[in-house]
Amino acid sequence: MKTVAVVGSQWGDEGKGKVIDFLATQADVVIRGQGGNNAGHTLVVDGKKFALRLIPSGILNPNTINVIGNGIVFDPKGFFEEIEMLESNGICTKNIKISDRAHIVFPYHKELDGLAEEARGDNKIGTTKKGIGPCYMDKTERSGIRVCDLMNKEVFAKKLKLQIEAKNKIVTGVYEKEAMFDFDEVYNEFIVYAEKMRPYVDDTTVIVYDAIRAGKKVLFEGAQGTLLDLDLGTYPFVTSSHPISGGFAVGAGVGPNMIKDVVGIVKAYTTRVGEGPFVTELFDETGDRIRTQGHEFGTVTGRARRCGWFDAVIVKYAARVNGLTSISFMLLDVLTGFDKIKICTAYKMGDKIINNFPASLEDLAKCEPVYEELDGWHEDITKVENFDDLPENAKKYVARIEELIDVNIDLVSVGPNRTQTIIRKNIFA
Ligand code: GDP
Ligand code: IMO
Ligand code: MG
Repeated sequence: MKTVAVVGSQWGDEGKGKVIDFLATQADVVIRGQGGNNAGHTLVVDGKKFALRLIPSGILNPNTINVIGNGIVFDPKGFFEEIEMLESNGICTKNIKISDRAHIVFPYHKELDGLAEEARGDNKIGTTKKGIGPCYMDKTERSGIRVCDLMNKEVFAKKLKLQIEAKNKIVTGVYEKEAMFDFDEVYNEFIVYAEKMRPYVDDTTVIVYDAIRAGKKVLFEGAQGTLLDLDLGTYPFVTSSHPISGGFAVGAGVGPNMIKDVVGIVKAYTTRVGEGPFVTELFDETGDRIRTQGHEFGTVTGRARRCGWFDAVIVKYAARVNGLTSISFMLLDVLTGFDKIKICTAYKMGDKIINNFPASLEDLAKCEPVYEELDGWHEDITKVENFDDLPENAKKYVARIEELIDVNIDLVSVGPNRTQTIIRKNIFA
């Protein structure tokens, strides 16, 4: 079996898009199984940049089938904007399949996302306001509208009517605003999307199953990251889906035993966008310097990402809850030029040393990082092709992290371009 799940091991934006694009040159199928267009995956090929949100990152490879799985919350408007962007760049978008079981994001989900954030005040999550949480709420409440419903005019009209009524009641009753959703407006907009979507819609569980059974190479593309997982992340400052490897069994509709390897995408330092705890966050010049050197601004929202040193506690946790079999170590070039580089090896809470990531945010707030310091390097590493050619101190940094996490670092990324990738072991081998 040649199946690989690629998961974010921190708070998202680790460089998953780059790795998927790189691996997709060998993959037959790439599938996204959770989240929606809250994701922003950047691909850079020959200096040309593509930001993908909903469409899987295998799309630049004309031979790869790109699947939007059943666990996705699907925003048709965003999808067709992405299709247009790709086509205007001469990219073929025929090889896309959309699950008939995926849930649809409607304008009322986006509006309710914004209203809920506003109501949270100082406790806001800092969501992307793409309607992700409210759409998953409808799904778990069992009132959501799925792609297969949208494909049937009568079913769609019936379900939408109920939803428009229910959402207007929330807007007027809970938020004390005027009713703002109009059935005809939403129906007429979405019925146009329905016809445009029809050629892409399929039972994607069959496509993925058949590909795996035929011995094809299948990549599961994670979105977000382990610490944003609804169960295992820094709840409630998380997303509403399961970005961990286990999420793929449900979100792609395959048995867990059909996922052979799990590659953790790990940034050489730590970033977070949105609110919530972040033990190694830097509020000083060093943090600003990492942000500037790493161009750490959100792909979706443009927000400045919070930056800090590498946190081995969270990556060890990610290695455990995802069952990581390999690590791709990203953005190493961003750390070039620092005299000293710090690694957080544990947390200190009062006089207690904490090695396992705590559940309680109150406990986390009391945690201080325990740092060890390594010497940095000053040489430009963005053109290095072989691991042995990296500066000694860069190699020592990678080796120390490998030792702390106890998972092999098989890929090291030294720049955003597809080619700026050092391979130590072929991930599909
Ligand atoms: P994703 O959400 O995990 O796919 O990551 P994003 O695309 O949101 O953020 C990663 C950013 O880092 C993007 O701007 C990438 O182009 C960029 N990137 C990826 N790998 C590297 C690298 O090794 N070095 C540098 N300098 N940038 C990288
Ligand atoms: P990729 O796939 C980083 C964060 C938001 C917010 C929280 C909840 O590019 O790594 P949501 O809109 O999902 O309800 O927001 O999750 N978030 C991400 N942060 N990368 C992402 O995706 C993210 N997707 C959501 O900033 O804190
Ligand atoms: Mg991103």
